[in-house]
Amino acid sequence: MCGIVGYIGDQEAYPILIKGLHRLEYRGYDSAGISLINAQGTLSVYKAKGKVSALEKSVEGKDVSGTIGIAHTRWATHGEPNATNAHPHFSQSKNLSLVHNGIIENYKALRTELEKNGMTFCSETDTEVLVQLVEYMMNTHRCDLYTAVQLALKNVIGAYAIAILEKSHPDQLVCARKGSPLIIGVGTTSSGRKEFYLGSDATPIIEYTNQVIYLNDEEIAIMDRTGRLDITNLSNVKQTPQLVTLQMNLDQLEKGGYPHFMLKEIWEQPNALRTCIRGRLNVVDKDVLLSGIIDHKDKFINCRRIIICACGTSWHSALIGKYFIEEACQIPVEVEYASEFRYRNPVIRPDDVVIAVSQSGETADTLAAIQLAKEHGAFLYGICNVIGSSIARATHTGTYLHVGPEIGVASTKAFTGQVITLCLLGLAIAKEKKSIPEDLFHLLVDELQKIPDKMQWTLENNKDIDKFAQMFTYCKNFIYLGRGYNYPVALEGALKLKEISYIHAEGYPAAEMKHGPIALIDEEMPVVVIAPKRGMYEKVVSNIQEIKSRKGKIISVVTEGDEVVKNMSDYSFVIPDTRDCFVPLLAVIPLQLLSYYVAISKGRNVDQPRNLAKSVTVE
Ligand code: F6R
Repeated sequence: MCGIVGYIGDQEAYPILIKGLHRLEYRGYDSAGISLINAQGTLSVYKAKGKVSALEKSVEGKDVSGTIGIAHTRWATHGEPNATNAHPHFSQSKNLSLVHNGIIENYKALRTELEKNGMTFCSETDTEVLVQLVEYMMNTHRCDLYTAVQLALKNVIGAYAIAILEKSHPDQLVCARKGSPLIIGVGTTSSGRKEFYLGSDATPIIEYTNQVIYLNDEEIAIMDRTGRLDITNLSNVKQTPQLVTLQMNLDQLEKGGYPHFMLKEIWEQPNALRTCIRGRLNVVDKDVLLSGIIDHKDKFINCRRIIICACGTSWHSALIGKYFIEEACQIPVEVEYASEFRYRNPVIRPDDVVIAVSQSGETADTLAAIQLAKEHGAFLYGICNVIGSSIARATHTGTYLHVGPEIGVASTKAFTGQVITLCLLGLAIAKEKKSIPEDLFHLLVDELQKIPDKMQWTLENNKDIDKFAQMFTYCKNFIYLGRGYNYPVALEGALKLKEISYIHAEGYPAAEMKHGPIALIDEEMPVVVIAPKRGMYEKVVSNIQEIKSRKGKIISVVTEGDEVVKNMSDYSFVIPDTRDCFVPLLAVIPLQLLSYYVAISKGRNVDQPRNLAKSVTVE
C-alpha cells in the first residue's frame, strides 16, 4: 500500500530510485513520482498517473541528475489517482518535497487550520497537509527540518512512513515512521563513507546492501552525506539503531523465466514448503520443533482459548488452522477478521493466546487487533512471512513462514506456507499437551513431510489447466464448494478468481447450498467442488448430484484414481491422496492455477490486479 524509496550518497539517485519503485510496484501502481536535488541545488518533482514505466517515459529528456532523492508508488486513499495527487508533494514555498505511506486521519482539521494561516493546497491528499504542516512549523518556530518534523508529527493522528527532501539543505535526508513500515539500508560509497537507502521493505535495498535498520514507531531519522545517521523519537530522545543483516537474495525478487510472479510463486510451493518445514519437522525422531512453542509451552498448555486474527487469504488459512488445532490440541479456537475484532470490543483475557497470521506482517487491521489484545494482557504469537515486519516485532514470539518474498499480489505460496505452519504449530502444541495419541502424531509427522513432493506431483499432473481455463473467459459467476477442511479452500479458490480475473465467485460449505445458493444454479454456472476421497466423500458426492440435476457445470478436485466423481464432472483436477487435514495444501493448487489461467485468458494483469495492493497498511 504505497511504496517509498530513498537514497543519499555518491551515486546517481535516479536509477536506484526507479529500480526500487519497480520492486515496490506490487504495493501500489496507480501513480508514481520522484524528487531529486541536482548539483546546482534545484529541487525537482516529477509525477505521472499510472505505472512506474509511465513516470520513466514522462521524465525522458528532463534533468534527473542528483545524488539524493526520494520516490513513491501510490495506492490511492485520499483523492483519485492522477498526477496532482501523486507523491512527492511540494510544500508551499517548494523548499520541501515529501513522500508518504499511510493515512493522516485528522488531515481535514489540520488543512483547515493551515488554510486559515494562508497556506494553499494543490491536491486532495492527506499527504500534502503533512508537508505543509512541516513547513509551517519551520516558519513559525524558526527551526530546522528535523525539529519541524518532530513538532508536526506530534500534531498528527494516523499512520505514516515519510521521507523528506529540503532544497536549502541538499546534503540530508529526513524520514520517520508510525504504523507504516520503513527500512534504512546502510551501504558504503566508493570513497569509504556511509551511504543510505530507504525502502518500505527490503526489496529496493537488497541489491546494494544487506545491512539494514528497521525504524520503530515514532522514530525520526536524519542521514547526511558525511555518513551521519541519527535517530530520535518524537520527544527527541536519542535511539540506538540496531543493524540487522538481511537474509534475502536477488533471485527471489526476479521472475526467473516465468511470465508472472504469481505463476512462479505457484510453482515454487514445493520448495518453499520444504524450506518452511526444514529444521522444524523431524521424521527420524518423529518430532516437531517450534522454538516459539517450546519456549512458551505453558502459555499454550494453560490457555483458555486461541484467537486467530487475520485478513483475506490469511483469514482462510487461519480457518484451516482452527480446524487442525481444535482437532489436535482440544483447545477452542476462534478465527476473527482483524478489521472486525479491533472495533467490536471483544472479550480478551490474559489466559488467551492471540495469533496474528499475516504474509506481509504489516496489515494495519491485523496490527491493530494484536495491539488491542496486548492491552488486555493476552499472549501474542505472530505467523508472518516478512522478516522484521511490524507484526513480527509487535508479538511476543512467533514463527516465520520462510517461503521467500511473495511479490504477486494474489497470495499463493504464503497461503500454503501459513497452512503448513499452523499445522506445525498444532502438532507442537499437541505434543506438549499430549492431546493426540503418539502413533497418530507420528503418522501426521510422516505425512506432513511428504506434502512438498505431493504438491510437486499435483503441479506436474494438472498441466492442461491453461487450455481448459479458456472455456471460462466469458463466465460471469463461479461457485466453489467444499466441506470440513476444504470449506476454507473453497473460499480461497473463489477469492483468487475474483481478485485477478474480476469474475464474481463465491465459496460455500457444500451442505449450505440447499439453504439458498442452490437457486443460483443453472447450465451457465460453473461449480468447483473439492471432493477428495476422504471423510465426507459420500456427502460431497450427494451435493454434486444436487447440482448436476440442476444442470450446473461441475469442475471437481478429486483424489487420483477416483473415477466416480471424475465421471460425474465436466472436468476434474487430480491430487494425490493425503490425510483430511492436509488436503487443503494440495487442493488449493489447481484452484490457484485455474484462477491464473482464466485471468490470463481474459487479458488481466495478474501480478497487479486493479484496485489491489500487496501490503494493506491502511485500514
Ligand atoms: C489475497 C491476498 C489478501 C491478503 C490480505 C492480508 O490474495 O493476498 O487477501 O491475504 O490482504 O494480507 P497479509 O497476509 O499480508 O496480512
